[in-house]
Amino acid sequence: MVHPLDDVTLLKQLDKNEMLKVIEAFPENSLNALKIFDGYDLKVNKKTFRNIVIAGMGGSAIGGTLLRDWLQPTSPIPISISKNYSLPAYVNEDTLLMAVSYSGNTEETLSALVEAKKRQATIITFTSGGNMAKYANQEEIPCVKLPVGFQPRAAIPYQFFSLAVVARKVGLVEGTWSEVDESIKILRKLRSEMNIESPYDRNMAKQIASQLRGYIPLIYGSSIHEGVAYRWNTQINENSKIPAGSNNFPEAFHNAVMASEADAVLLKHVCAILLTDPYEQAETAAKIQRFRDIMSRRFGRLIEVSAFGKARLSRIMSSLYIGDFVSAYLGLLNGKDPSSIDSINELKRSNLG
Ligand code: PA5
Repeated sequence: MVHPLDDVTLLKQLDKNEMLKVIEAFPENSLNALKIFDGYDLKVNKKTFRNIVIAGMGGSAIGGTLLRDWLQPTSPIPISISKNYSLPAYVNEDTLLMAVSYSGNTEETLSALVEAKKRQATIITFTSGGNMAKYANQEEIPCVKLPVGFQPRAAIPYQFFSLAVVARKVGLVEGTWSEVDESIKILRKLRSEMNIESPYDRNMAKQIASQLRGYIPLIYGSSIHEGVAYRWNTQINENSKIPAGSNNFPEAFHNAVMASEADAVLLKHVCAILLTDPYEQAETAAKIQRFRDIMSRRFGRLIEVSAFGKARLSRIMSSLYIGDFVSAYLGLLNGKDPSSIDSINELKRSNLG
């Protein structure tokens, strides 16, 4: 019998807004994003900023989170993410503030942008249009135009790699830029294994989606996968339309592990997903083994997904990419359109402004 995820015609019918097609184009969109600044003067140079803050919400915040996770061991200045109407008190004229809103109309991000301007931060905006583009034009703030036609979360290659190019321009990626090439090669290889035409028997993403059916996933990321675990969580919320939670190691050893003591009736509906990293620090790796033993004895199901590649960026991007595919297949298995965001829109309509 044909597995439901191998019925390509049915999948394409359900995937009305072609989320899978956009996920499949991730490697090419990453390459396009690297060229987004060609012939464009960003008005930033190797000025010594004291910190970098990326302001954005939801799908437009994740690119910044990944940048932070990638550059954490090498960046001499802090990179932080601000997801609110107002900015941290330390944002001032020594800050590089990158405001990201795919639609350009997200209330919280627009408010943070206006505040950054008042505090005289150096600002770059990233948007496909909307009020952010208008404001940037009016205030003569550099505006990186993201291509139209995506769901914000599906524009992640554009958001992450354009932020990365800026980080490079200000001198933060000097020793690590070569990681970009390896990452894109690995994304291509993973795509050849996880695309819609690739059959269930050889398709890791279809298999994981199928195993997740009927479970509430809790995702635990290795040290480098804090943002990626959260991305799996939110992609499963948005693309698959099911509840999920996330945590990361070693933090999860100090709290999340206690969930293994919950009532067995409850736990049988929960699936732990461990995002592991072959280069995890030895102490943490040893404890992950113990964590896995405890969770697998008590949770309904446990799935382990190991990162691919050698470079830190490849290990981040490969695990993220698997999650993007899994979330779309799981949504389709549940008969949902991965692209729809009715409840997000309902909340946005209730904005006061
Ligand atoms: O994935 C989504 O659609 C959301 O999480 C949006 O990214 C979020 O609501 C913010 O909107 P925007 O990305 O347009 O600023």
